[in-house]
Amino acid sequence: MPAISSTAPGKVILCGEHAVVYGQPAIALPVQQVRTKTTITARPAAATGELHIIAPDIQLDTIFESLEPDQPLRAAITHVTEELAIHSLPACEIRINTTIPLAAGLGSSASVTVSLVRALSQFLGHPLPDETVNQITYEVEKIHHGTPSGIDNTVITYETPVFFKKGESLKRLDILNGFSLVIADSGIPSSTAETVAGVRQRWQQNTEKYDHLFAKIGNTVTRVREILRTGHLPDHGTLLTENHHLLCELGVSIPTLDNLVNAALEAGASGAKLSGGGGGGNVIAVVKPETVNRVVDALRTFGAVSVIVTEIAGMKREK
Ligand code: MEV
Repeated sequence: MPAISSTAPGKVILCGEHAVVYGQPAIALPVQQVRTKTTITARPAAATGELHIIAPDIQLDTIFESLEPDQPLRAAITHVTEELAIHSLPACEIRINTTIPLAAGLGSSASVTVSLVRALSQFLGHPLPDETVNQITYEVEKIHHGTPSGIDNTVITYETPVFFKKGESLKRLDILNGFSLVIADSGIPSSTAETVAGVRQRWQQNTEKYDHLFAKIGNTVTRVREILRTGHLPDHGTLLTENHHLLCELGVSIPTLDNLVNAALEAGASGAKLSGGGGGGNVIAVVKPETVNRVVDALRTFGAVSVIVTEIAGMKREK
């Protein structure tokens, strides 16, 4: 049996993170420059059911049975076998490699699960539909992140820009004019589970204040969507900067991220913000072709450990 491979992209939240957990809309984009690849190879000489899992990026080289039931890779495999009502698996080697920086807000956990679920279901002869891949990945995201909104699994499963609202069906994002986005990694690892839990704790202590901030973020996201849809000025960049300030008020930014945001703005970005859970991870900046190099240089000078420039395509129609 030939090896089966499946890949999945990373993602970036353009705007609306955290508030999206509380029912507000958010916009996310797939990032194709970083990807996860899962390759599954049959091992006919090994005992039936022996699954050898190798994931060097998380220092894992073990067999399925030795993983705890709530270990995310084990949980993903179990969800697939239950979904397909398969009770014994052929012996195989599952190799997972990702170029997505871990704990950086670029969707590494959802990307690993999507690629694993797709590769395994294909290996077993029953490729699962996107809807099921998305649902299983959401379940595994709960192990990683506690109370995720579902935006990461959705944008990574469907590999399309999304306007996402928790509990609602998929809405692809309509973008009239493409734009360039710079994604800069602060190099500070951050746990989305922790930042989401921190916001929840503060929300419980001061519900009115936080609900108000969430609503303001939601309003910003709706305006960004409208600008992207119609191509009307002003550029959506300024709204992203506004979103960053609201995230600061939520308490999820740190001085390093604020410095990177300011550096990007001073170098000519039309907008910049932290992206994802905050507390570390990435900042993003909307740039014009003439300012790309200056913004990239400024972000590197201010300590970004890696910088990706990604082109967001325009002229997509919303379905
Ligand atoms: C994580 O990419 C975005 C957060 O809003 C968490 C979530 O939506 O699950 C911080």
